[in-house]
Amino acid sequence: MSRGVHLHRAGLNRTLPGPESLLELDIGSIAAGGAGVARGPDGRVVFVRHALPGERVRAVVRQETTRFLRADAVEILTPSPDRVDPPCPHAGPGRCGGCDWQHIALPAQRALKADIVADQVHRLAGLEVAVEVREVDGAPDGLGWRTRVQFAVDPAGRVGFHHHRSGQLELIEACPLAAPGVEAAGVEALEWPGVARVEVACSTDGDDRVVAVTSTRRHVKSLPDVNAGIIADGRPGRGPHGVRHRVGGRTFEVAAGRFWQIHPGAAEVLAGSVLAGLAPRPGDAVVDLYAGAGLFAALLGDAVGREGSVLAVEGDQRAAADAARNTSDQPQVKVRTAAVTAELVRSRVGRPDLVVLDPPRAGAGLAVTAALAALAPRRLAYVACDPAAFARDLKVLLDAGWTLASLEAFDLFPMTAHVELVAILLPPIAVMA
Ligand SMILES: C[S@@+](CC[C@H](N)C(=O)[O-])C[C@H]1O[C@@H](n2cnc3c(N)ncnc32)[C@H](O)[C@@H]1O
Repeated sequence: MSRGVHLHRAGLNRTLPGPESLLELDIGSIAAGGAGVARGPDGRVVFVRHALPGERVRAVVRQETTRFLRADAVEILTPSPDRVDPPCPHAGPGRCGGCDWQHIALPAQRALKADIVADQVHRLAGLEVAVEVREVDGAPDGLGWRTRVQFAVDPAGRVGFHHHRSGQLELIEACPLAAPGVEAAGVEALEWPGVARVEVACSTDGDDRVVAVTSTRRHVKSLPDVNAGIIADGRPGRGPHGVRHRVGGRTFEVAAGRFWQIHPGAAEVLAGSVLAGLAPRPGDAVVDLYAGAGLFAALLGDAVGREGSVLAVEGDQRAAADAARNTSDQPQVKVRTAAVTAELVRSRVGRPDLVVLDPPRAGAGLAVTAALAALAPRRLAYVACDPAAFARDLKVLLDAGWTLASLEAFDLFPMTAHVELVAILLPPIAVMA
């Protein structure tokens, strides 16, 4: 250990680790954010990035609070059998903060994600679940799957990604996680003076549409000649200005900068899981909350037919416009631009037979979930990208007497600790008077 704070307190005479201290640590489990968990010499928990359960590592402390430390494993003293060489030359301690599980074999990544999900559901919802995280087609070797990438740009106009919890950039010449369509835009090979960020999205329907959305930090006379459509500070330049995806026999158009599932296989597997779990019948009334560009609304619209109905609620105006366009052939689908709130659920969605919700990372929250519990549709599908937020909302439903009928997990974010869930929930059985 080096460079710690030397303390004489309550008869103790020991060195507490502080920033830049070097510690030797044994990694126990994995934390929800993807770091290994260890005990520091003073008993505080240490979250150790770039480590694996079972490893003994030498780690440099990056951040200290009264309750825990954050550290990076910089030397692996006893490696795990699941450790591999990172495929990207920019991965590693103090380097690109984009995907920090590159040192873990893919099957072990999925097993660790399953542990994280089971642990969060147990801790926060009090339920024991067996979880299997399924591989999804479209990411050979866990690479080339990001169909949307946000590049940062340094003041000199060079492209990179932020280091973990840092304003500093790792300059890159290529990103192995980016889909070939994104890389074809050639963003990294160009210089972007005056630009702060460039987000690139590509189609997955076989066309070669690629769009770059830039935001600038100062007036820029002209942008470099990127091999993509351009939208600069919200102003459309050369087209195209959106991308296309094909799912369940339908084509979805998504405006540049708006949400679509990033992994090329994601929309298909999530829609398949939601439809199988909800088992919609012709004539059903369905509510799709946080509807984005209308992925679930359109496919459920086909399933319930013209005698049924789908109400899609989406907060972002341009995403809602995409959803309306993507379902314009379906009179049974109505798109409403509105924030999802408890009040909206209580009084503006009627009495649906089925509900699907796919909220952002923060989850639906306690108030919205409680309002959904009171709606008591026949089935509810909860699509979640944050196991902790999901487990917190799940507890609200379980406390209201709901049952978790199934929980599927998909590896939509290889090389990271992220995972996507689809939960099917059933309301309490109505007690007959
Ligand atoms: C995870 S995406 C899901 C989109 C869609 N279900 C899909 O799979 O393509 C979440 C969506 O919720 C929208 N959103 C975020 N907060 C919202 C809120 N409070 N009310 C309504 N929509 C919201 C975002 O604009 C985004 O389109």
